[in-house]
Amino acid sequence: MTDRLTLAAIALWLLGGWHLVQAADDDLQSRILLGEQTFGDNCSKCHQLDGYGEGGLYPSLHQQSLLTDKTVLIQTIIHGRLAPEQVPGAQPQRLMPALGFLSDREIAALVAYLSNSWGDEVIVVTEEEVQTARQGIP
Ligand code: HEC
Repeated sequence: MTDRLTLAAIALWLLGGWHLVQAADDDLQSRILLGEQTFGDNCSKCHQLDGYGEGGLYPSLHQQSLLTDKTVLIQTIIHGRLAPEQVPGAQPQRLMPALGFLSDREIAALVAYLSNSWGDEVIVVTEEEVQTARQGIP
């Protein structure tokens, strides 16, 4: 009797655990899909759909050091990139537009999509992390 109950409890525990794993997987898949869409709509005209960019104009995003650094990814998306200051006080040249109008969800999805597609492993960032990063360096 006790054995049966124990077995049933173990079976339920296993099933429950499996459900959680499934749910987490589905969530990641939908994030990656949203990231793919967001990339196609906002990034691919410069970095190209395959992420290899274009000659000396737009850098390739296939760089492990970049794809493992969520801070650089999030900051670059939110604030874009300015050219290093050539003449002090001169209007800085904008190399990449700031894309901070994207939602926290879209930016988190982009990080998942980029790292999953071209990095060694997927990086999961929360929307809260993106929110916090918005308050960082202007
Ligand atoms: C109008 C063209 C343009 C668009 C649109 C654009 N980028 Fe960029 N991006 C650039 C350029 C140019 C650079 C290189 C800037 C530099 O040299 O510092 C760059 C740099 C980057 C870098 C840093 C690369 C490195 O080597 O350090 C990342 C990451 C990046 N972009 C991601 C994105 C993502 C993600 C999007 C879409 C949300 C996007 N970019 C949209 C032009 C663009």
